[in-house]
Amino acid sequence: MIIDTTFADLSLQSDIINRGFMVPLFIEAEEGALSSGSVDNNHAGFTGTGFVNLTHETGSYLELDIMVPESGTWDLFFRYANGSDANRPCEIRVNGSIANSQFDFPVTGEWTDWDYSDRLELYLNSGLNIIRITGITSSSAPNLDHLKFINDTGTGI
Ligand code: GCU
Repeated sequence: MIIDTTFADLSLQSDIINRGFMVPLFIEAEEGALSSGSVDNNHAGFTGTGFVNLTHETGSYLELDIMVPESGTWDLFFRYANGSDANRPCEIRVNGSIANSQFDFPVTGEWTDWDYSDRLELYLNSGLNIIRITGITSSSAPNLDHLKFINDTGTGI
């Protein structure tokens, strides 16, 4: 069962999962730490208070601490906008290890066109995990809105 709703409080989400529901976990990009860039709100359609706009340079990154209630395989979807005319692949690391060296963020149309990325399958530890999204081109990442995680065990908890 999937309840598609957004909670800012990950412990509340975990609590719901512990009651036997499989719910997506959401984290807003603007809750993370930026190596360089800004949290902006000038393109409508984002969730939360804004979106992350990393500095245009190879290597700028966003790092997020996420807590998950159980270890295992999780599906990650990024909500993002790429109004430029070129894809913006990024390296994705989990707890320091490369999970995908060039995860693609194709063009979405306008900067106000927010889409979910393709699925990225990740192994996460129970408890704290650190996700880092690093631009690998001189344009860095697209504008990043939030990350959505779905437990891939198919069993709920
Ligand atoms: C435009 C847009 C920004 C975006 C930037 C980019 O300036 O307004 O929100 O981050 O392009 O190319 O990354």
